[in-house]
Amino acid sequence: MGRKKHYLEYCGLPWHIAMIDSTGLFGPCCGKFIGKIKLIRDVQNFWNGKEYRKVRKNLIKGKSKGICADCIYLKVMLNKEYLDEDEVGKIWGCPRPQNPAVQVEQKPKYMAVNFTSRCNLSCFMCRDPKTNPLDERNFPEMPFELIQALAVNYFRDLESLITAGSGEIFVHRNLLKIIDIIQQYRPKLVTTSTNGSFNVSEDLWRRFISVNDLLMFSVDSVSEELHKEIRGFDMKKLFRNLDIVNKIRDNEFPNFKYGFSYVIMKKNVHEMFDFVRKAIDEWGASQINFMHVHGHDDESVLLEKEWQLKYNKQLTLIKDYDIDKDIVMEIPDFAYDADGNVLTDKNNRTINSVER
Ligand SMILES: C[S@@+](CC[C@H](N)C(=O)[O-])C[C@H]1O[C@@H](n2cnc3c(N)ncnc32)[C@H](O)[C@@H]1O
Ligand code: SF4
Ligand code: SF4
Repeated sequence: MGRKKHYLEYCGLPWHIAMIDSTGLFGPCCGKFIGKIKLIRDVQNFWNGKEYRKVRKNLIKGKSKGICADCIYLKVMLNKEYLDEDEVGKIWGCPRPQNPAVQVEQKPKYMAVNFTSRCNLSCFMCRDPKTNPLDERNFPEMPFELIQALAVNYFRDLESLITAGSGEIFVHRNLLKIIDIIQQYRPKLVTTSTNGSFNVSEDLWRRFISVNDLLMFSVDSVSEELHKEIRGFDMKKLFRNLDIVNKIRDNEFPNFKYGFSYVIMKKNVHEMFDFVRKAIDEWGASQINFMHVHGHDDESVLLEKEWQLKYNKQLTLIKDYDIDKDIVMEIPDFAYDADGNVLTDKNNRTINSVER
């Protein structure tokens, strides 16, 4: 085990990543922006500019300032206020450079581009059910011209492109053109997240898979009822898509991988371990990502002891499960007490001895 560091001593995202939202806002991670792109050269201007340098400088000094003052990604979603040196580089594959003062590359190597904020669903933890998720006035779509300019100027040099973000890529009006432009300026690695709810034809899946290396299906339960409650559609549609994806992968794209993302909430925390088993043993996952819910304190399992214990119990079961080393797991940390110890149940048994 390496030394524990506060995430501010560790986070390397602003040295590696440009995240661009559907309106052109630019920053290092979810919802943290330093400016808005108007011309395509602004990407480089922001990347090498004063504001981004300030973000990097504050992190080097360990200062919780500016956009990092309230870190959603590491502190809230991954519950990782402290990290082990062993974990350095695992998160987004972005370790802070050995010498943080070192000049960054002229262009970012990793990009997360939110092609659209529109969606066909109103998932419980993501949308206000009273708002139409397809309404572009509330949920903008990135104009194809911007996507094209990003592709032409940056995609080919990227180590990794993460598409989607706050919406559903399959609703984008220019999906076919997007697939073609990614094909033309193919980054080394492309990852997309989808809700898996569409009746996607075999042909469209084939084209989509041809420009993706990793596809993450967002599924937050194993039971059909809970899935319907959270995501609002019948899970059978997801499995229909999964069957097609598997067939195409097996026959045509053996290197293509898919996995599942799970948002941890009070309503589904009890299914976490079952989810891991199903995702690996039955659904064929190569990767599993867990994240804590943000923006819904009433559903967070990190704020009350009763829920922290339920969460720790599931985490223990998962960590004790014999998972193939080739399967990538991104999983948040245990819940700790004020003294920095992993919370145990009231009989004071260590969490490792908790039985199901
Ligand atoms: C906003 S979605 C966009 C991509 C696609 N529509 C999907 O559902 O995968 C990206 C990821 O954010 C997760 N997410 C949605 N609401 C969240 C919340 N309140 N807290 C944490 N993650 C959330 C989703 O489950 C999904 O894995
Ligand atoms: S907000 Fe958090 S994840 Fe984002 S750059 Fe700052 S420390 Fe890193
Ligand atoms: S499918 Fe994705 S973007 Fe759409 S509401 Fe659900 S989590 Fe949000």
